[in-house]
Amino acid sequence: MEIYAPKGLFAIATQEYRHFIRVKDRWGVEHISKTNWNYDALANFYQTIAHMYSFGQIRCSKNLQLSEISAGIKVLYVGCGSGEDAVQAAKKGAKVTCMDISSKMIKITEANLNKEKLTAKLVCSDIFDYLSCDRYDVVVANYFLNNFSDDVLPELLSHISALIKPDGKIMIADFYAFSKNRLIRAIQRLNFYIVNLFFWALRVAPLHKYQDYTAYFDAAEIVFVRVDTVRLLNMGVPFYSNIVGIKRQSGKI
Ligand SMILES: C[S@@+](CC[C@H](N)C(=O)[O-])C[C@H]1O[C@@H](n2cnc3c(N)ncnc32)[C@H](O)[C@@H]1O
Repeated sequence: MEIYAPKGLFAIATQEYRHFIRVKDRWGVEHISKTNWNYDALANFYQTIAHMYSFGQIRCSKNLQLSEISAGIKVLYVGCGSGEDAVQAAKKGAKVTCMDISSKMIKITEANLNKEKLTAKLVCSDIFDYLSCDRYDVVVANYFLNNFSDDVLPELLSHISALIKPDGKIMIADFYAFSKNRLIRAIQRLNFYIVNLFFWALRVAPLHKYQDYTAYFDAAEIVFVRVDTVRLLNMGVPFYSNIVGIKRQSGKI
C-alpha cells in the first residue's frame, strides 16, 4: 500500500494531519484510511498534564477569553478536548457546541458538563467534515490549530471562518509567537519542542513547526484584533497567548 508522503522528516511526520489519510492500494485505487494519530490514549490525562506542565498558564490563556463570552451567544469549541473552557462558557450562559474528533474527549467533556449540571451540543467529527447551517457568534480553537501542517492551515482557517457569523469572533489560545530576541526565542522554542516531542512520541499529534495563524487571517476573511499575552507571575518569557480576530462582512476590507 502506497502512502502519499511529502519529502523531509517534518513533511512525513506532519502529512497525517487529518487523522485520515489518502492511501493507494496495489491496484492504484485510492482509499481513505484512519491514522494512528489521535488523543484517545491521553484523553484522561491531557488537561492535568497541560495544566501542570505550564504552571497553569495554558488554562490562564483560555480563561482570558471569558470576557468575550456572554449569556445567550452561540459559541463553538473546535477540537474541544475535555472541554474545561467550554464548561466555563456554558456556566456564563452561552449556547455551547463542543466538537472533537476523539470520542473519548467528547465523553469526558460530557462528564465535565454533567458534573456542573450544564448542557451543550456535543459533536464527534473531523473538523473538515463539520458543516453547520448554524453560524456562531464565536468560534474557539484552543491548542488545536497546531495539530495541522502549514499547507492545511489556509483551508482549515477558511473552513472555520465559514462557521462564524459576519462580525463574529475567532479566539485562538496557543503558543506565543517566537520573540526576535535570541535568548527569549531559544527558551520559547525549547518549551514548544518539548511539548511537541512529547505528543509526537505518544503518537498523539504529528511533529510541527511554530505556525503564525494570523498570516492566514486575511485570506480567511478574518481581521486580526489583538493578542493577549500570558506570562508566569506576569513577568518573564511569554509562552502562551490568546489571539482574537473578527470575521469580515463579505465584501468589506
Ligand atoms: C491539544 S488538544 C486541545 C484540547 C482543548 N481545545 C484544550 O485547549 O484543552 C487538541 C484537540 O483537537 C482534537 N483534534 C485533532 N484533530 C482534529 C480534527 N481533525 N478534527 C477535530 N478535532 C481534532 C484532538 O482530539 C484534541 O482533543
